[in-house]
Amino acid sequence: RIVYLNGEYLPEEEAKISIFDRSFLMADGVYEVTSVLDGKLIDFDGHAKRLERSLNELGMQKPQAFDDLLEIHRALVEKNGIEDGLVYLQVSRGSAGDRDFAFPDPEQVKPTLVLFTQNKPGLADSPASKTGIKVISIPDIRWHRRDIKTVQLLYPSMGKMMAKAAGADDAWMVEDGFVTEGTSNNAYIVKGNKIITRALSNDILHGITRAAVLRFAREAQMEVEERSFTIDEAKKADEAFVTSASGFVMPVVEVDGATLGDGTPGNVAKRLREIYLDESR
Ligand code: PDD
Repeated sequence: RIVYLNGEYLPEEEAKISIFDRSFLMADGVYEVTSVLDGKLIDFDGHAKRLERSLNELGMQKPQAFDDLLEIHRALVEKNGIEDGLVYLQVSRGSAGDRDFAFPDPEQVKPTLVLFTQNKPGLADSPASKTGIKVISIPDIRWHRRDIKTVQLLYPSMGKMMAKAAGADDAWMVEDGFVTEGTSNNAYIVKGNKIITRALSNDILHGITRAAVLRFAREAQMEVEERSFTIDEAKKADEAFVTSASGFVMPVVEVDGATLGDGTPGNVAKRLREIYLDESR
């Protein structure tokens, strides 16, 4: 696989960064995941805008190649022959050649920019999208700037492991009694024809797929309510689903052991998935 590192396209084994890189030592880095379908990038502009926002919020410099990101994404997709898959991008604050809690002087340190692709044949027809997924609830103990897409992913990783151990596929995180989001996706329930999802704030990531899906839902005259919901409400919902760049619209058929509807993907989730895939390709 060919990867991108600070201006160069390299075989992955030749791409090397410093052991003092702050994303490695301090999780001082931000990232984006953009999906590729039929060789085409999905929602690239939204991901680039959110990256810029994440960098700003953390006072991180834009990498020099910021204006060339679309071109770099396309080049990697092409070099690696990706039809369906993902492009992962990470910017770290860089390395000051030592370990220090304080940020290095931006005049002296350049951000590290890394991109690589993941080949996922049939990404839009994954088995999970046909059966739906099961989620469990876990407490949300992450920091309070979840709107910034940082590489601090240890707790979400643990959440996926907790779900697996419980025989489920993913976890919804709960804070002050309300669902915030999934470990790597935004969470929704459906009551009748109404789509309910938590409003944007620093408590959740402002999903690029979320923005697109809510827009398509409104355009299709579906009712959308942006408000918090509890796990109890989710267990009694008609349907549920999650959205993310890697899973698009993924139906949820079980919440904490309670089966939703007849235990198969709901009509609203199926329809939104179809619309999203049609409109974004
Ligand atoms: N995750 N919430 C969290 C905590 C996420 O990590 C993600 C994305 C989302 C959905 O955002 P978007 O629609 O922009 O992908 C919500 C990516 C896919 C990942 O970590 O792989």
